[in-house]
Amino acid sequence: MRELYVGLMSGTSLDGVDAVLADLSEGRPRPLAHAHHAFDPRLRQALLELNSPGGNEIERAALAANELAHRYAAAVRDVCSIKGINAAEVRAIGCHGQTLRHRPELGYTVQIGNAALLAELTGIQVVADFRSRDIAAGGQGAPLVAAFHAAMFADADEARAVLNLGGIANVTWLPRADEIRGFDCGPGNCLMDLWAATHLGKTHDQGGDWAIGGSAIPALLERMLAEPYFAAPPPKSTGRDLFNESWLRATLAGGAPPRDVQATLLELTARSASDAIGLFCRGTQRVIVCGGGARNPVLMRRLAALLAPVAIETSDLHGIDAQQVEATAFAWLAKRALASQPAGLPSVTGARGARVLGAVYPR
Ligand SMILES: Nc1ncnc2c1ncn2[C@@H]1O[C@H](COP(=O)(O)OP(=O)(O)O)[C@@H](O)[C@H]1O
Ligand SMILES: [Mg+2]
Repeated sequence: MRELYVGLMSGTSLDGVDAVLADLSEGRPRPLAHAHHAFDPRLRQALLELNSPGGNEIERAALAANELAHRYAAAVRDVCSIKGINAAEVRAIGCHGQTLRHRPELGYTVQIGNAALLAELTGIQVVADFRSRDIAAGGQGAPLVAAFHAAMFADADEARAVLNLGGIANVTWLPRADEIRGFDCGPGNCLMDLWAATHLGKTHDQGGDWAIGGSAIPALLERMLAEPYFAAPPPKSTGRDLFNESWLRATLAGGAPPRDVQATLLELTARSASDAIGLFCRGTQRVIVCGGGARNPVLMRRLAALLAPVAIETSDLHGIDAQQVEATAFAWLAKRALASQPAGLPSVTGARGARVLGAVYPR
């Protein structure tokens, strides 16, 4: 008997939503179908603006949430129709939602997406708001994917780290014997995307083609790496709340050739991730990379050089497409919620205990 779930992930990159139809019946989760629906520039801009304080933001957020629910529903319909599945066959949708603020130090995090409307539009029950309960229990509310990474990628004979290169980058450490750890290590693609948007008018630097023609600026890189977040020990999580345009402008402090800045930002992502693995994931033998950054060969080459002799490869070699890992994780988290099984790992988020995560919106 198949147990079908749909996971939805729309991350800090604001690139769009990934939907995965997954069979979670037994053993390792099996993704069956994937769809990526890109956000149009207007929605992306509206969401970007909602990431910092502004006028009438309650109504703007509510309307953006409704719009997201329609995008999410379309992506759900898409993955179901690829496999000829109807709504009644899907047990639940696990919906991460779109983060507008992530402030665990103030006791809150906000992901929007109007789960009630999503349930109404799809006729499928929805599990949403996975982060709040972990924060209520004193945790970071992030990263929540560590338990899923363990289910997918842990190996009894090898200490592994999973590196998710989304807008923000996060690491899950899967040692052979010790406790699992996980944390956001810093910017993934978000600063590179921001700079590419400013200077190329594009959503991102496809293939790292622009960055590779520039040279990283050592003094600028050192200023960026001096950000205290990087050296702080886990548990820790971050977002656009820290790594945003103001952060970038403050470290830039003056003019530099734009292409060299892009090369520096790519180096920042590679250095902060490889430094974090060296510092906090001692003894790692293999790094498995997922998220959109896995599709940037220039970034992957820099990571390989910095991590050598540790092996590095994308999750594609471990049975799951790099772009599908996080969405599949939220399908898996929905199943945990409905089974009343805890899903956050206190060793990762720093919560007082493992809690059942998510709020259920019935069919
Ligand atoms: N071919 C590519 N070359 C360079 N960067 C890419 C490529 N494909 C995806 N990306 C990067 O990955 C990002 C999307 O990654 P994703 O894992 O969806 O992040 P998030 O979870 O934050 O939405 C894009 O914004 C872009 O920066
Ligand atoms: Mg994305």
